[in-house]
Amino acid sequence: MAGNNRWNWLLGIGFVIAILALASCYPKRVGPVGMSGDRLAWTQMSIDQKKKHMEDVVLPRAAQVFRTWRPHHYSRIDCTLCHGPDPVAVNFRMPGAHLPRLSGELLLGPEFAKHPDTTRLKLDSLVPAMSEALGLKSFSIITRRGFGCYSCHLGPGGPMFRN
Ligand code: HEC
Ligand code: HEC
Repeated sequence: MAGNNRWNWLLGIGFVIAILALASCYPKRVGPVGMSGDRLAWTQMSIDQKKKHMEDVVLPRAAQVFRTWRPHHYSRIDCTLCHGPDPVAVNFRMPGAHLPRLSGELLLGPEFAKHPDTTRLKLDSLVPAMSEALGLKSFSIITRRGFGCYSCHLGPGGPMFRN
């Protein structure tokens, strides 16, 4: 009995360490080298560094995803696709009011019903590509946090899931 308990205890500690290790991987250092000599994470960048990271890394990745979907419609995309017609006026603030509001339902039932192909594309390609480009963890249904649909879209009553 005692041996069994110790074993459970060790497993428990191992589990906690594994979770901490996973959690500490984010945000990833995907940006330019900062004052400390290490690369900066998205959350540590200045607004100018964020703009440059968007232009050099995020925009090309997003363009690739949108183009595989509708090559003609998205042959040229720019900052306004996500940030709206006047990004400077809203300080590049996301989620943006010019994008359609989503239902707020965790399993995206209404989105899959009304827009199955966009929803698939976003879930399978856009969210993973953007999370990677930003070095952020993808949205998890369990923790209800991370980069996902509501990093760009508002919900019925405003921003959702700490975005
Ligand atoms: C595919 C969509 C998309 C495109 C295109 C895009 N952005 Fe972004 N941008 C985002 C998202 C999403 C965020 C918020 C990321 C987060 O969760 O912190 C963001 C955040 C930003 C921020 C930080 C705002 C803040 O409050 O900290 C700046 C600055 C920015 N973008 C500039 C640009 C510029 C400049 C361009 C064009 C070169 C651009 N973005 C193109 C999606 C996009
Ligand atoms: C990086 C930003 C970003 C993320 C993340 C994102 N979207 Fe979008 N979404 C957009 C943009 C930009 C448009 C508008 C495209 C256009 O105007 O051509 C859009 C449009 C839509 C539309 C409207 C389609 C239509 O034809 O009216 C739906 C539905 C949608 N998104 C669902 C989702 C879902 C569901 C997720 C998460 C799985 C998601 N989006 C994640 C940027 C994003």
